[in-house]
Amino acid sequence: MSTATATKKAHTVKPPKVKDQPLLIGGKWLDSVSGKTFDTTNPATGEVICQVAEGDKADVDLAVKAARKAFQEGPWSKMNASERGRLLNKLADLIEQNKDELAALESLDNGKPLRDALAADLPLTIKCYRYYAGWADKIHGKTIPVEGPFFCYTRHEPVGVVGQIIPWNFPLLMQAWKWGPALAMGCTMVLKPAEQTPLTALRVAALAQEAGIPDGVINVIPGFGPTAGASISGHKDIDKVAFTGEYTTGQVIMEAAAKSNLKRVTLELGGKSPNVVFADADLDAAVDGAYFGLFFNQGQCCCAGSRLFVEDRIHDQFVEKILKKARSQKVGDPFDAETTQGPQVSQEQFDRVMDYIQAGQQEGAKMLTGGKRVGSKGYFIEPTVFDNVQYNMKIAKEEIFGPVMNILRFKDVDEVIQRGNETFYGLAAAVWTRDIAKAHRLANSLRAGTVWINCYDVFDAAAPFGGFKMSGIGRELGEYAMQNYTEIKTVYVNLGS
Ligand code: NAI
Ligand code: MG
Repeated sequence: MSTATATKKAHTVKPPKVKDQPLLIGGKWLDSVSGKTFDTTNPATGEVICQVAEGDKADVDLAVKAARKAFQEGPWSKMNASERGRLLNKLADLIEQNKDELAALESLDNGKPLRDALAADLPLTIKCYRYYAGWADKIHGKTIPVEGPFFCYTRHEPVGVVGQIIPWNFPLLMQAWKWGPALAMGCTMVLKPAEQTPLTALRVAALAQEAGIPDGVINVIPGFGPTAGASISGHKDIDKVAFTGEYTTGQVIMEAAAKSNLKRVTLELGGKSPNVVFADADLDAAVDGAYFGLFFNQGQCCCAGSRLFVEDRIHDQFVEKILKKARSQKVGDPFDAETTQGPQVSQEQFDRVMDYIQAGQQEGAKMLTGGKRVGSKGYFIEPTVFDNVQYNMKIAKEEIFGPVMNILRFKDVDEVIQRGNETFYGLAAAVWTRDIAKAHRLANSLRAGTVWINCYDVFDAAAPFGGFKMSGIGRELGEYAMQNYTEIKTVYVNLGS
């Protein structure tokens, strides 16, 4: 859906009414074993939307039992691969049929503008399930010419029961990135949505039931990181854990995975991505791309172009255009179709971002616009632009995850390659130039999992995404993601007499 169509549509969609939410284990919607619940909050108002069952170790244990049973006993494990594909397509169809409701639920729980949910989150989610539906019956091994009278072949088998821990910035999409390949491969799963945004995960789980995905294949345990999350990463009967979130949480999860049972681990851990604008770029396109690459989703993107390198010669012109854009945004109610920026997801994230804004000022960066809270309720922050950012400042080194742009100047290609790589992250990078050789030189030299040339935030279910260095381990999306959910078995058959 184009932004214009989404805006039109957003005029007609209203915030949904939501009931208190149970958790899902083995096809049953249940209260948590402890009976505890937690609030999920509307970030636009700070008000509680509803109560959600709070899962913990006991619930995770039950969910893993259900997932193990579904994995071993079928019908899931005995189902034809093409049938798994059909069910995934059916799930995609059901999400599409309910896309307005899901977009509204996502906006309500996360705060993202409804028109963004309609234009980006929903279509990308639907395409992700469809893409993996196509893979279900196209996964197979090889026959290998070995020495001796042996026939040797490999089988690509599902890794087993997988645990999935996802963040709050793109709840529907992160669920799709994890469920798509896991379901195509024939795994069963226990998902913990982020405590800030559990609602759409539960709704999609209900749609998966409606699609006919058998009981126990999908289990959803809302709850908190150190309790429900840690019970997943440390569980002895989970074969693999997939996580998206902060790198320090990734370290805790990897350690728990190692100590419990050496379960396989994939991590997607954010970044401090360099976005490099050369003087020979199409300036207006670069300004739009730099703005979108940082402020999209209220700045809450793992791949945000949060170190914006601008070549000296065009610096002043560039800054003038960026400021004009920043000052013309409409920050406010996510359900207002004209809103371009919603609230941060929570009080905690709001405070974090405001602390970074303060740190930037204290360290001597020049705040050109923004920096303040918008309104008196909800977690809204003005689009903020810092200029004269120096390489060693906190705001140039740490992931801010908010609407705060940092402009760094550079003089030449070698300098910007070196500076661009001066980070322990390596998730994404972008370059804006009309010089094709320079563009490819940067694409080769920047140590990042994705490089965009004259574009930003382009995503496709078919193309892999993930990080170099401390931005993560493994790749999601595309054919590459299937590997995370696959065990390879080698079989030798004696053909000799
Ligand atoms: P987080 O990494 O703590 O949370 C992400 C998920 O991990 C949530 O489901 C959470 O419940 C779970 N979790 C937390 N602690 C855990 C533990 N010990 N064991 C297992 N699971 C655990 O991120 P948080 O606190 O929500 O945000 C903090 C910062 O992390 C943000 O400001 C941002 O910089 C970064 N972040 C990056 C994301 C990305 O897409 N790469 C997404 C969300 C946050
Ligand atoms: Mg945390």
